[in-house]
Amino acid sequence: MIDIKNLKKKFGDNEVLKGVDLKIDNGVTLVIIGRSGCGKSVMLKHIIGLLKPDEGSVMIEGKDITKMNEKELFEIRKKFGFLFQGAALFDSMNVEENIGLALKENTLMSVKEIADIVAEKLEDVGLPGIQKMKPSDLSGGMKKRVSLARSLATNPEYILYDEPTTGLDPVMSDQIDDLIKDLSDKFKVTSIVVTHDIFSVYDVADRVAMMHEGKIYFEGTPKELTETDDVLIRDFLNRTDKRI
Ligand SMILES: Nc1ncnc2c1ncn2[C@@H]1O[C@H](COP(=O)(O)OP(=O)(O)OP(=O)(O)O)[C@@H](O)[C@H]1O
Ligand SMILES: [Mg+2]
Repeated sequence: MIDIKNLKKKFGDNEVLKGVDLKIDNGVTLVIIGRSGCGKSVMLKHIIGLLKPDEGSVMIEGKDITKMNEKELFEIRKKFGFLFQGAALFDSMNVEENIGLALKENTLMSVKEIADIVAEKLEDVGLPGIQKMKPSDLSGGMKKRVSLARSLATNPEYILYDEPTTGLDPVMSDQIDDLIKDLSDKFKVTSIVVTHDIFSVYDVADRVAMMHEGKIYFEGTPKELTETDDVLIRDFLNRTDKRI
């Protein structure tokens, strides 16, 4: 379980997180929505210790990661897959090298074992056989899926997705949503998905949280979200770009 308590973070005078409280049970897919700049990416970065809070805690399996040193963080991060917003691949490496990098550096797997996993993950994201291509030869959607394959390579228990479908066409977006669901159903992965794509909420979420002004404004099921009379939420949902 991930248990975030009273998380606060300022950058200069910019108070971004003003006391975030959020629990994510194991096996659950939680989708986080909220206006641009409200702190979604900043919060995700606290969950894997890329940012340290000014106050508050992030408990993962009972341990507060905000108190961990780099070595402990390195160990806990092995349980995580992270699809960064605008995920960058290493341009000098081909697809296979990009996906296999963490396995090569952090495990004792053989070249053949790594190649098999890379092939399997490319299969999973619907891009079999593109191992030898360079990132510069891929479309935006393909890059996104290769990045996803890379975050899946280590078979993470937790996956954080920062806008996994942004910039993809509706068909591809559906495929990514299906993949997120599959991973959750088959492997009981715990997923946190930040998205501006309201269709993803209905496609993948067990629970949904809305951030507003540095706090969790709403947390509940997708059904509870759509049925709420709350003016702020209704307004947000009405304005959110709809996938056509
Ligand atoms: N490393 C940083 N240093 C200074 N300010 C930062 C840093 N990272 C984020 N911010 C600021 O924190 C605020 C929240 O940013 P964040 O990236 O979390 O927004 P977001 O909710 O993910 O937005 P979007 O939906 O556009 O991705 C912004 O005002 C941003 O400028
Ligand atoms: Mg963001």
